[in-house]
Amino acid sequence: MKFDIFTLFPEVFQPYLNASIIKRARVNGLIEVNLHNIRDYTVDRHHTTDDMPYGGGGGMVMKPEPVFSSIESVLGKPPDIPVILMTPQGRLFTQEVAKELSSLPHIALLCGHYEGIDERIREHLVTDEISIGDYVLTGGELPALIVIDAVSRYLPGVLGDPTGTEDDSHASGLLEYPHYTRPPVFRDWPVPEILLSGNHAAIDKWRLQQSLLRTSEKRPDMMEKYLKRQNKD
Ligand SMILES: C[S@@+](CC[C@H](N)C(=O)[O-])C[C@H]1O[C@@H](n2cnc3c(N)ncnc32)[C@H](O)[C@@H]1O
Repeated sequence: MKFDIFTLFPEVFQPYLNASIIKRARVNGLIEVNLHNIRDYTVDRHHTTDDMPYGGGGGMVMKPEPVFSSIESVLGKPPDIPVILMTPQGRLFTQEVAKELSSLPHIALLCGHYEGIDERIREHLVTDEISIGDYVLTGGELPALIVIDAVSRYLPGVLGDPTGTEDDSHASGLLEYPHYTRPPVFRDWPVPEILLSGNHAAIDKWRLQQSLLRTSEKRPDMMEKYLKRQNKD
């Protein structure tokens, strides 16, 4: 899957894209992430990318010209792939949305900064808007990395274990069961015996019970939805 990122701060992405599972996915050609600096598409001497808001008020607004120019130069006019704006006003990014996006071969992510972008970009260039949560960050770079990460986990081969995403919290509608690894006893705290039993049916049953238990304790809202779905099926 290919990601084209449009940002004023491409350097923010490098450390994360060059580490761990996401780095391996890139090296193995499972994902391609292209970073485009919007500033490179300015035509004035000062490489201006933002300006004061019409109507007054604090903060700066990202100008339309360099954003249109960067996206249209790279993706064509109009772009024939989804152009997704990172914005606290967008639809909430959930595991379901991550899965949905993972079925697309190519997406563009536009990162705002300062007070945000000129509204004409949203109206005439952007095709989808995503928020990573009900809080406001200084820029869309972290949200874009979050989207790349969560979407990539769904692509075949990115996780070593092909069933890796199935039991994850939120993927099944439940929070995942607890995990343990060696040693079997650490500071008098033993691993639950069932996990050492080798009885896979019993382990599966215990894990489901644990998932149900922690979902009802920690996320009663998720539990309610889960039960409603179970009753429907
Ligand atoms: C300070 S925010 C602008 C917020 C804008 N003034 C508003 O109230 O909607 C600057 C940029 O950070 C990004 N951003 C901030 N919070 C975000 C969130 N929760 N999800 C996605 N992007 C976010 C967006 O790209 C946004 O354009």
